[in-house]
Amino acid sequence: MGALAVASVLALILLVDFSRAKYEPTWESIDSRPLPEWFDQAKFGIFIHWGVFSVPSFGSEWFWFYWQKQKVKAYVDFMQKNYPPDFKYQDFAPQFTAEFFDAKEWTDIFAASGAKYIVLTTKHHEGFTLWGSKNSWNWNAVDVGPKRDLVDEVATAVRAHGDIRLGLYHSLFEWFNPLFELDAANLFATTYFPTAKTLPELYELVGKYKPEVLWSDGDGDAPDKYWNSTGFLAWLYNDSPVRDTVVTNDRWGSGSICKHGGYYTCSDRYQPGHLLKHKWENCMTIDTKSWGYRRNAPLSDYLTIEQLVATLVETVSCGGNLLMNVGPTHDGRIAPIFEERLRQMGQWLKVNGEAIYNTTAWRAQKENATNNVWYTSKPQEKAIFAILLAWPDDGSVILNEPVVTKEQTKVELLGYGSLQWEPAKPSGLQVLLPQLSFKQMPCQWAWTLKLTGAS
Ligand SMILES: *[C@@H]1O[C@H](CO)[C@@H](O)[C@H](O)[C@H]1NC(C)=O
Ligand SMILES: *[C@@H]1O[C@H](CO)[C@@H](O)[C@H](O)[C@H]1NC(C)=O
Ligand SMILES: *[C@@H]1O[C@H](CO)[C@@H](O)[C@H](O)[C@H]1NC(C)=O
Repeated sequence: MGALAVASVLALILLVDFSRAKYEPTWESIDSRPLPEWFDQAKFGIFIHWGVFSVPSFGSEWFWFYWQKQKVKAYVDFMQKNYPPDFKYQDFAPQFTAEFFDAKEWTDIFAASGAKYIVLTTKHHEGFTLWGSKNSWNWNAVDVGPKRDLVDEVATAVRAHGDIRLGLYHSLFEWFNPLFELDAANLFATTYFPTAKTLPELYELVGKYKPEVLWSDGDGDAPDKYWNSTGFLAWLYNDSPVRDTVVTNDRWGSGSICKHGGYYTCSDRYQPGHLLKHKWENCMTIDTKSWGYRRNAPLSDYLTIEQLVATLVETVSCGGNLLMNVGPTHDGRIAPIFEERLRQMGQWLKVNGEAIYNTTAWRAQKENATNNVWYTSKPQEKAIFAILLAWPDDGSVILNEPVVTKEQTKVELLGYGSLQWEPAKPSGLQVLLPQLSFKQMPCQWAWTLKLTGAS
């Protein structure tokens, strides 16, 4: 073989090696795709529920459904008391004004929270699209209401920031879309709705805004075959502009949740309490009763920063990401209560981020059933992090069975410095905490012990 022939054989081998994996439109193939690394490293994202439901901002983002489909009394009464009798849900859309919406301000708040990605509802089950969808005539934010492409403004601001990835939420079905109702009446033997609406929208969203998270929801009890989910995902992973970095969730048709797709969400506010093998995400909301904004939510319905930090810690310790939701107002503001929680989370992460971002679940998650200590680790740095959700009253904390110490084991309180420790019996160690005044504390809602030279 001449040199030229050898070179071309080598080139061929290289070509073969570097050709990208082709995913087939089957769950077996789709599920075999490795999760892009950035997602597990990110750990913390912000969910944003915004739409026409932000106008009544009463009850929940399911307002239309509860009012007109289920005729829930609280919603029917609210409409009777406050609106003329012929008022339709569609009449709320012009009041979705967004006059104070500034995507740069939002992005500054998200960045201050320490979040590494956001997920914006581009279309909830009401069907109203926050971008000028070609397939949602007169029921989108460019034609009605703000008269602005809200998805584009958020995408542009987030990209300009550089350290936050863009995620888009999209509902497969729509409660009252006549085409969906027709397909449902045909027991999903016809596919008028996904063909004319869902799929064109998904392709448009990906092509236009290049999201790195595609958060699908709302299967309407229809199977993934009806939605052509594996066909779409094969395109997303093989040929879309975000094929190398995009991650998706598991809500792609009835029965797919917690089983197929990308990472698992399993349920809203999912918290398994133990380590899962498969990557998962806990999507939850600061207002415990709603994802969309509620004008009449009392303070007691909002989680405290202590509860939110504890949720983040438990989630990350068990191998999950936290997706924490805020509901902006119809006029485009992130209310001060949400803003405060986000900024507080960021303050905590400034001191303790080392124990959250880029960590790996350790071999044990919780120290024991009764104390409030959760573990994370960074194997590459041979570091173990023990996060204390409460400051011990007696000035020391015992880390029992899981930790194996050596003489050279070092313990550090993040944001403070080295601490003394003693071996504990029968195993583990007792860490002596310094007596600190409130002002000397490195942070206020949970504290991290970094152990090096232990295993
Ligand atoms: C399903 O998706 C695949 C891949 O994008 C496409 O080739 C196929 O035509 C789609 N089928 C239907 C029924 O839309
Ligand atoms: C996490 O790791 C990635 C990849 O090594 C790096 O780019 C990123 O800066 C790290 N993030 C943090 C918060 O340490
Ligand atoms: C949990 O740990 C504490 C010390 O932090 C210890 O007093 C307690 O006995 C432990 N409980 C169990 C069930 O091991």
